[in-house]
Formats: sequence, structure tokens, C-alpha cells
Amino acid sequence: MPNGTRVRLHFNENPYGVVPEVRERIVQELGKVDLGRYPDGEAKRLCSALANYAGVNPENIVVGNGSDELLQLILLSFLPELERVVIPVPTFGMYRKGAELAGLEVVEIPLLEAFELDVPGILRELSRAPSALFLCAPNNPTGNYFSEEDVGSLWDSAARVIVMDEAYYEFGGRSHVAATERDPRIIVTRTLSKAFGLAAMRVGYLIAHTASVCKLQNCRQPYNTSAAAQVAARVVVEEAQVQLATVAEMARLRQWLIRHLGDIEGLSPLPSEGNFVLVRVEENVLGHGARDLHARLEHEGIAIRYFREGARLGNHVRVSVGTADECRRLVDRVSCWARGGN
Ligand SMILES: Cc1ncc(COP(=O)(O)O)c(C=O)c1O
Repeated sequence: MPNGTRVRLHFNENPYGVVPEVRERIVQELGKVDLGRYPDGEAKRLCSALANYAGVNPENIVVGNGSDELLQLILLSFLPELERVVIPVPTFGMYRKGAELAGLEVVEIPLLEAFELDVPGILRELSRAPSALFLCAPNNPTGNYFSEEDVGSLWDSAARVIVMDEAYYEFGGRSHVAATERDPRIIVTRTLSKAFGLAAMRVGYLIAHTASVCKLQNCRQPYNTSAAAQVAARVVVEEAQVQLATVAEMARLRQWLIRHLGDIEGLSPLPSEGNFVLVRVEENVLGHGARDLHARLEHEGIAIRYFREGARLGNHVRVSVGTADECRRLVDRVSCWARGGN
């Protein structure tokens, strides 16, 4: 592998991680953790920092071991009311996994041509049985927001619970939090793994009406976030202004990637509101399309996401926004191959 380093452009992480000055404060505060005691099960100081950041009350927040845990917790908490989970696809794979683990029927509704919601199709399925609905905003891996009008129509549906997954909120800036105040069925999930650069610590949070928070708290493991995770999460959130400077840089690099990948024959990057770009790869260039591109880059030590399983995404790859160096390395390799080089 050249340079001995693997370039990670497959998990939509923040390539800068936690910025040095914030990291220093985390390390200092971790030194004060009493290792012999259980953490605060309610994560009160963290919830208070998150509430301040999100503009809600701490009582409306539940934290978890990554938002992955919270997606599962939501299904478990509402399980007695649910028979099925409706999922517009392609989207984040954990919705399906969570539904399967909870023993619920999974109904996938393909997105339309431009990756918009098939509102009549979804409404039809929601009306057939008590359902949970997952909407990813912006959607991973397509990178787009669904139209507010379509989302509003689905909020008016018969769904028993509607998850608005805002894992990439900081990159796109569109919040659905206000809806959680008036409708206990709408739950917003977010994560500190992306813009906040804290994927290693596994911290996610959700924002919901107190009626739903009560249900969720009943099903939550008492100590689902460690003391270390709570400290690190609280500090990055308190230092949001400093940490989130990385978001502007990643937005700039995302546009750079879209422009330069788009200049390569056979590649069509889609616009994106996340820290990743979905790229359509023509079958007959760069070998045999997306699969070959993924394999060749892997061989060069550059990991990108290839969607083996999805018929709709068979000729696509997803590339996370890396550092300027990583983005340049990717573009240089692929444009060299497109020109017939090795
Ligand atoms: C849309 C979406 N939701 C949730 C997650 C999970 O994030 P976490 O690290 O908080 O479990 C991811 C991670 O890639 C994601 O893409």
C-alpha cells in the first residue's frame, strides 16, 4: 500500500476529528473521571450542553451509544404499537437492520428517479398496518434533502412514529426539531460522529416530545454512555463554535470534489448536503464501472463505499469528504486511470 496509510473515505467521518484545542480540553477533563464509579445514567451535564446547542429543553433529549443505538431504542420503545417499518430506499442500512432485529416487517419503497420520495406509495403502505417511518435528512447515501412538502405530507400520515435522522444536520443546516414539540410521533436523531468528529466515543442524541422521551427512557439501558464518552461529548458540544469550523472547510472540499470528479469522463457526482458525494460511474469506463473503481482504489489504499447489494446503486460509489490531501489523492488517481494511465 503506497505511503503505508489507508485513506478512509468510506464511513463519512470528519477527517479532522476533534480539533487540537478541543481535544486538549477533553484529555484534561478525562483525567478527572472517577473510574471506580458508574457514570451519571441520565447524562445530565451532557444533555444540558446538547439542549443549549439544539435550542430545546434538556428533558426533550435522550443520549445513546451512537445514534445507531437510538434508532434501535426507538423501535423497541414503540414495539407494542408497531407491525412494520416503512423505509424509502436507498438509505442508511441500519433502519432495516433495526427493524429486522425488532422482528418487524420491513417495507422498502424505492425513491423516485431524482431520489425524491414516492409519497403516494409510502402513504399507502403506512395506512395498511401500524408503522414506523424512517426519513434521513439529508439522505445517506444520495446526499439530498426530500422536499419539505413531501415530508409534511408524511408527517400527516397514519405513521405511529416518524424518525427524522439528522446525522448530517451540520452540513446541510435544515432542522426538523420544531416539529417534535407539537407531535410526539416525530423524533429527531443526531450524532456527534460526523461534524463533531467524535465517532470513536460513540455518542448520539435524540430530540423528542416529553411523552415519547418517557417511553424511551423506560427502555434505555441505565448506563448506555460511558463516563469518558459523556465528558468528551460535553466538551465538543460546549466548544461547538471552534469544532464546527471544520464543517465550512469540508463544505468547500465537497464542492471541490464534485467539480473535479465531474471533470473525469464517465463519472457523474450528484449534489450533496452531507459530508459525502454519491457518484454515478459509467459501466464501460475505468474497467467495469463502480465495482472496479472501488477495487482499484482499495488496492491503492483508498477506501470508498461500493454498494454491492443495491440494484439502484449498483453503478454508484459514495465518497466521503476527506482532507484536502486525501481528496487530491483520490482525484489524481482516478483521473490518471481515466486517461489510460496506471
Ligand atoms: C444516516 C446515518 N444515521 C446514523 C448513523 C450512525 O451514526 P452513529 O455513529 O451516531 O451511530 C450514520 C452513520 O454513518 C448515518 O449515516
